[in-house]
Amino acid sequence: MPNNAKHPRLEQHFVLDLVRVTEAAALAAGHCMGMGDKNLVDQAAVDAMRAMLSSMEMDGTVVIGEGEKDEAPMLYIGERIGAAKSPQVDIAVDPIDGTTLCSKGLPGAIAAIALSPRGTMRVPRELVYMDKIAVGREAKDAIDINAPVAENLKNVAKAKGRKLEELTVILLDRPRNESVLAQVRAAGARVRLISDGDIAAAIHAAMPGSNIDVLMGIGGTPEGVLAAAAIRCAGGSIQAKLWPRNDDDKRLAAKTGLNLNKVYQTEDLCGGDDVFFAATGVTGGDLLKGVRYFGGGAQSQSLVMRSRSGTIRWIETMHDFTRLDKLTGAKGGRRTAGR
Ligand code: FBP
Repeated sequence: MPNNAKHPRLEQHFVLDLVRVTEAAALAAGHCMGMGDKNLVDQAAVDAMRAMLSSMEMDGTVVIGEGEKDEAPMLYIGERIGAAKSPQVDIAVDPIDGTTLCSKGLPGAIAAIALSPRGTMRVPRELVYMDKIAVGREAKDAIDINAPVAENLKNVAKAKGRKLEELTVILLDRPRNESVLAQVRAAGARVRLISDGDIAAAIHAAMPGSNIDVLMGIGGTPEGVLAAAAIRCAGGSIQAKLWPRNDDDKRLAAKTGLNLNKVYQTEDLCGGDDVFFAATGVTGGDLLKGVRYFGGGAQSQSLVMRSRSGTIRWIETMHDFTRLDKLTGAKGGRRTAGR
């Protein structure tokens, strides 16, 4: 049965609803920038995101959140959220991707959310890391995560009509990615190393007209699913394989029936016809500007996309704190976003 028969069509208004959610998280976390406290950043974003999500007209289930119920009082996996009985949707949140970046005032932290029909976001959450390769639409048929790095880069360069030395590969700067980094360098491609934030990096690689061509290397599994949702919307492709850190992870995979050789394609991670993705910049980066405060308000920049239409919107928002406080009855303090 085609997906559109199984799942009710989701309405366009989610586009703006989701931006309000990520704006709320970004404005709240933005106040904690540079304070050196990752948990403070995360908590501010979670609180703001949760409050905004609860007013949305949906019956949402959190499939990617802050962890299991006993370790997360809010936005825990399995939490039902929303103010209506339908539509039934899966919600994946990363209130801040790059909590360390924000806590140090470094560029590239974003607040991110994805929404799709219930049962269409599949998260192999038993293992925390995945090996990933992601590209934009021109190169979507040119990648094979099982092929050598040099072959992938050669094929991407050909698909994009570029020389190898004109390709830029983005990778998380981690010891576990040293081998792939060495292979990228040996192939002659340019390298962009990042200290955190591979959701934004994957989106960047997939975005039309971007100066980043490929994301490679091992990063978080939940981040891989959020990236897949964004790539469903933007076009392009992500492939991923679960990556065991040690023998315990290998035993866990065997016990839970996870196949470590399985290649997860974009649709395996995030299926369904109606996928929505939104992100707001917290600290300014290549993908999104960070939150900029001014007397009595702030300005934010967001990205919001929808798979059905393929529309990519960049939204600049001015937030007037004085009027918002009147509207919501808030008495100042840390900020949520507008109604
Ligand atoms: P947090 O914001 O949750 O710290 O995640 C940042 C991040 O860099 C992700 O973008 C990435 O997928 C993951 O951490 C990599 O994990 P690790 O820091 O353990 O290598």
